[in-house]
This record gives sequence, C-alpha cells and structure tokens, in this order.
Amino acid sequence: MNEFSAVSEATAPGKIILFGEHAVVYGRPAIAAPISQLRAIATVTYSSSNNCYLIAPDLNRHDRLQDLPDDNALAMAARLVLQAAQIDAPPDVTIHVKSQIPIASGMGSGAAIAAAIIRALAQHLNRLDLQNNDMVSALTYEVEKIHHGTPSGIDNTVVAYEQPIYFVRQSPKNQIEPFNVAVPLRFVVADTGVRSSTKVAVGDVRRQYNQQPAQFARIFDECGRIAQAARQAIEAGDTMQAGKLLTENHAWLQKMTVSSPELDHLVDAALQAGALGAKLSGAGRGGNMIALVEEGEMETAVCYALQKAGATATITTILA
Ligand code: MEV
Repeated sequence: MNEFSAVSEATAPGKIILFGEHAVVYGRPAIAAPISQLRAIATVTYSSSNNCYLIAPDLNRHDRLQDLPDDNALAMAARLVLQAAQIDAPPDVTIHVKSQIPIASGMGSGAAIAAAIIRALAQHLNRLDLQNNDMVSALTYEVEKIHHGTPSGIDNTVVAYEQPIYFVRQSPKNQIEPFNVAVPLRFVVADTGVRSSTKVAVGDVRRQYNQQPAQFARIFDECGRIAQAARQAIEAGDTMQAGKLLTENHAWLQKMTVSSPELDHLVDAALQAGALGAKLSGAGRGGNMIALVEEGEMETAVCYALQKAGATATITTILA
C-alpha cells in the first residue's frame, strides 16, 4: 500500500437547476447552481481483506466490487477510475459512501455520489490527473448515463465544478460558463416528498417530442430564451426580473407535463405567500421546487406557506 494513501476522503455538493431543465437535453441553454450545504461523501480506506468493498448504508448496500453488475452506478464510478488509471485488479480498499442529498428528488444525488467516489478513489491512487474538475465531470457523465440514457451533462458539470454555471449542450464541447451574480439571490428549496425517476421524466419528454416535434421545439426554445434572459437579469442584479422568469419557466415545464399536482401546489403556495418567483427544479414529476425570496419576512412567510402546503423539508440556499 506504500504508494497509496491510507485514508482518502472527498465530497461533492447537490445541485438545483435554476432555469432550463429538460430543454437543456435538446441543446437549449440552462442555469444550475450547487447546494454546498448538502453533500455526498466518499471515504476510501485501505483494507486487509484482499478485496474492494463498496459500502453505502443509506442505500442498504455492502458489496464486493467484483460482485456488482455493470449497471450499478457506484461500481461504475469506481471501475471508471481504475480503468482510467490502467489498474486491472481492484485495490484492497473499502469505499464508504454517505449522502445528505435526498435521492430521486432532482438535487443531483446520483451525480454527487459518483463525483465523490471518483475523487476519493483518484486521491487514494495518488492520481492528480484524475482529480481535476474536467476529468471528474467527464467520468461522472458516464455514470449519469445509467440514471438516464441521454443526460445533457449539466448535473455532472455543476457538481464537479461546484459553482453556478450557464450551460449549453453542444458538440464537440459543451459551453460551460461561470457567470457573475451581481446581487446574491436567495432560494428556498422545498421537497414535495414524492420521489421521481429522472429517466422516466426525460423519456416521457422524448416520446412527446417525437410525437409533436414542432410544439415541443417551441417549448424548448421558450425555455432557452428564458435561461438567456435570466442570466442577463442575474448579471444585472435585476432580482424582480429573475423571479418573473422563474415562474414563466414553470409554466413551460407544465406544458412539457413534467410538473405534478404536488409541485404546482407548492409553487402556488410560495407565490401566494409573496415569493418573487417559483418553479419546479430538476426532472420534475416530484422532487423539489425552488422559490426566490428576499431575506426576512418574505422568506419566513414563504417557508411557512410551503410547510403548510405539505413540503416535507425546506432549506435556503444563496446564489452568490
Ligand atoms: C436533471 O437534473 C436535468 C434534466 O434536464 C436532465 C438533464 O439535463 O440531463 C431533466
């Protein structure tokens, strides 16, 4: 074990999509931000068991890497690092994974867990070249393909870079632009408590797009226009405009059929309580919504209204 670290730990944040989810899969711009207070944590410890173990208590998993199938996301994250490091036999380690990010809730828990495993294992192997943001993002993207076939690349990018980004999926290289936030924006993130599969939501949008290409292309265009306008508003410090654009984006997501009664109910409750804007965030059909608020009375009123309307958890995150 001499050339390897005895204990390596790495973390990655959750994320919220501020503007442009789903349309981003079809090449329209989107904006995402990390949620640094909710993290996935991976620890790699040298073990004398002559095996590589993957332990994830939150997921009730305790397995040998070699016993896990190809489509197991945690195993894939570890195998991709070993492959990139050109290591054939898995090292004798225990990879322990924990996460504070709710699963299947639109907060990028899968991407964050993969990114944490990739960084921790690369660190254990003393492979600096596999720990930079580009590499972590690229390997996480490969894992994301298990969660749904055609990820845009926004989730892996935001959790690997851990900064707000303006993102456009394009070939040969995605456009990834950190941007200036003139005035910090305060978001209340509220959980419907309903778990939902990104793969199913993305697949349903794909089917509808195939059936009605012109209508859906128009919806995607509108979401892209909103994301572009939102970036300008955020860079100019125009919080009111950013709020209006959030609510507008939610209406287009409803047309895409990715909202749900629970999400709509929370969005309405936030707006009625005075939020500057609100929308679902992520793949939809369940998971989380976000509401833009001002600190103080407005934030308190919105949090209270969301809890009363059935939110199972609320946190505040600041885009700065
Ligand atoms: C999921 O966080 C965001 C989606 O746009 C899917 C993707 O971009 O890959 C729904």
